[in-house]
Amino acid sequence: MRKIFRNGFPTIIKRYDEVTSTNDLAMEYLFEKGKEADGAVFIAEYQKKGRGREEREWFSKKGENLLFSFIFIPEEDYPVTLIPFAIGLSVIFTIESLFKIDSKMKWPNDIYIKGKKIGGILVESKSVGSKIIGLIAGVGININSKVEEFPVFLQNKVLTLKDVMKMDVDREYFFQTLLKEIPFFIEMALEKKNDFLTILRKSMVHKKGDLLKVSTGGEIFECRYQSIGEEGELIVKNERGKILKIIGGEVVENF
Ligand code: BTN
Repeated sequence: MRKIFRNGFPTIIKRYDEVTSTNDLAMEYLFEKGKEADGAVFIAEYQKKGRGREEREWFSKKGENLLFSFIFIPEEDYPVTLIPFAIGLSVIFTIESLFKIDSKMKWPNDIYIKGKKIGGILVESKSVGSKIIGLIAGVGININSKVEEFPVFLQNKVLTLKDVMKMDVDREYFFQTLLKEIPFFIEMALEKKNDFLTILRKSMVHKKGDLLKVSTGGEIFECRYQSIGEEGELIVKNERGKILKIIGGEVVENF
């Protein structure tokens, strides 16, 4: 079997009290160290400019949740579009193994429990031309905040592990467990892609035939969920019965 992280994972864990965004720190480190940066992890108590997908802000009260990023330098044949899904599965399996709670992924890779968002993943890349030099994977999990501590407009959309478990959760233990799952799923996406896709499809919150509202390329439309494709794309049937493969965007609602 091929080695995924050439120097192991994590190679180094850099801890911070307050940062702009852990993704920014990881990107700077990748620029500075090149290939040597593979496997480095950056974790912070607070982000002044935490960001989510679609240029949204990522809210997290200081010292309560999990905010980290890591660097992955893929080989040329690595299926990079599966990376966010591999991280999503790592989160789902961590939650299952620590708390025996069922969590699912809303496409592309929001982590949901009981229909509410508990975590998100933001993967950014550094490329030269069309060649990817490295990936920065940022992970945010709502751990010990209370829903009331989120901005009002998010309060009916989010959940935290503390709310679900009705007790404080050991953030460090959660982090260390998740770090062990990540290389396993990143490797599985390459070495056992079919098994990976089977697990991924079962881990989606969407069921075949569900009515979805999908946002892609500046438009929002309704369609029926079919499956997840080999590259992580969303496969849906539109109102005229045509099968579409959606690469960028997100499921806005799953009715
Ligand atoms: C999303 O669901 O929109 C993705 C959220 C990703 C948030 C994490 S927190 C750590 C890392 N640093 C950031 O600025 N964003 C990611």
